[in-house]
Amino acid sequence: MKIALGSDHGGYQMKEAIKAHLGDGPHIVFDRGTGGEESVDYPPLALDVAEGVARGEYDRGILVCGTGIGMCMVANKVPGVRAALCNDVFSARASREHNDANILTLGARVIGLGLALDIVDTWLCTEFAGERHARRLEQLADIESRYHKK
Ligand code: RB5
Repeated sequence: MKIALGSDHGGYQMKEAIKAHLGDGPHIVFDRGTGGEESVDYPPLALDVAEGVARGEYDRGILVCGTGIGMCMVANKVPGVRAALCNDVFSARASREHNDANILTLGARVIGLGLALDIVDTWLCTEFAGERHARRLEQLADIESRYHKK
């Protein structure tokens, strides 16, 4: 899978750790910044990854900020993105099985690194369950299309 990573300063260390963790695996990882711990605004960083996922340049995105909340809010503004803030493994699994989440957001000031890496691994390897959940995602897309007329 092609996976884009992004963070602000609050998530920088965790983003770097996720990049190192995924480094030896089968995935192609794209680090979209930020590149250090200097304070930066999270919206442009989240938007960059979210637009890349929506355009199909990346299969999935992982965004990290202090809480994961700001990243999730921005990413979900982009049509076609289904971003899920998951600070536990159960939610990470469900966000894939039920919601076909294509972006995972994490709160680096909320959870530790060990848990974050477990969440990432679970999220990346869990498949969408389809069936009744697919019907619900169609409804979600219908709602989205009402507010994003071309
Ligand atoms: C930055 O201080 C912090 O607001 C940001 O990382 C994030 O938690 C926003 O949702």
